[in-house]
Amino acid sequence: MKAIAYHNYGSPDVLKYGEIEKPAAGDNEVLVKVHAASVNPLDWHFMRGTPYVMRIGSGLRQPKDTRLGVDAAGQVEVVGRNVTQFKSGDEVFGLCQGAFAEYACAPERKLAMKPDNVTFEQAASVPVAAITALQSLRDKGKIQAGQKVLINGASGGVGTFAVQIAGSFGADVTAVCSTRNVDMVRSIGADQVIDYTHEDFTKSRQRYDLILDTVGNHSLLECRRVLNPKGKYIMIGGPAGRWIDPLPRAINALMLSRFVSQDMGMLMAKVNKDDLTILRDLIQAGKVTPVIDRRYTLVEAPAAIRYLEEGHARGKVVITMESELAKKHISMPTAESSDR
Ligand SMILES: NC(=O)c1ccc[n+]([C@@H]2O[C@H](COP(=O)([O-])OP(=O)(O)OC[C@H]3O[C@@H](n4cnc5c(N)ncnc54)[C@H](OP(=O)(O)O)[C@@H]3O)[C@@H](O)[C@H]2O)c1
Repeated sequence: MKAIAYHNYGSPDVLKYGEIEKPAAGDNEVLVKVHAASVNPLDWHFMRGTPYVMRIGSGLRQPKDTRLGVDAAGQVEVVGRNVTQFKSGDEVFGLCQGAFAEYACAPERKLAMKPDNVTFEQAASVPVAAITALQSLRDKGKIQAGQKVLINGASGGVGTFAVQIAGSFGADVTAVCSTRNVDMVRSIGADQVIDYTHEDFTKSRQRYDLILDTVGNHSLLECRRVLNPKGKYIMIGGPAGRWIDPLPRAINALMLSRFVSQDMGMLMAKVNKDDLTILRDLIQAGKVTPVIDRRYTLVEAPAAIRYLEEGHARGKVVITMESELAKKHISMPTAESSDR
């Protein structure tokens, strides 16, 4: 099968498109024929092997797993003998190891049935980003209707889901983004928008019950300043570093939490079937619509990652498989900025 593989850490140039062996589903796994995959910052962290601390798990000198990509949507090809909830032909989405390939395997517990009102590309854009937004707001943030919630980095992969998910909980949502994204974040439901090129949200008089920070460009003390006394600050990422960042910021947030009335900390998302199913229901109810920025073909995966690494994606960046394009009789307009 065709796939993206890499044998050394480095820039997108290390990614090679070619033939690799089709994976076989284990007893608890599902083999998925991938129709579309999406790109996450996680993928370029694995590609570069940074922060270095992650190489303890991914391989010290070279990547242990030469395949890349996790988010996928497609059709079930084969199920392992212990799999009970899927059968051949089902349309699914979820976490598939090595998703930048024609076929990839996923544990049954990391997949759900695809929402039937969206494309495979939209479904593939959901798993990591939307689950991060959902778990941050619901589990760590304990979001409530009527609360004032600020999303910093509202126009990115996680941010575009967070704005819509916070809205679905009945929160009053303030989105922070740059000028070119103001209309887009309004269109997905932001009640207020702060253009960070003109205004610094940490200097505002407004106070928030919950801040979801996908950027980490303000100090913790600055963020705390605009939290209500019982407010919560949740970071999910921060400026990328070579060694251990953003761990020190996460530790500082935990330490600070012990001395102030607010709750501050980091969330690491865990993809699971229950949350994928909640997201599928939100999508089917029209409360959440994945926002797709650019589409690439599998052979163009290095360009997709290069673009995401620039840090200015508007929603999600997806990779569409040739088979899917052929089915739709589409010739790919590459690096095209589309909308929702
Ligand atoms: N903890 C977890 O489990 C977890 C899970 C997923 C992701 N993450 C992390 O979360 C972060 C965000 O992920 P993502 O998928 O959303 O990334 P992304 O799609 O690459 O986010 C890019 C967005 O960030 C915005 N941005 C850049 N600088 C900004 C600033 N100063 N103020 C406000 N917005 C700014 C950009 O908007 P402009 O173009 O307008 O600047 C762009 O829309 C990454 O660090 C990622 O590693 C963590």
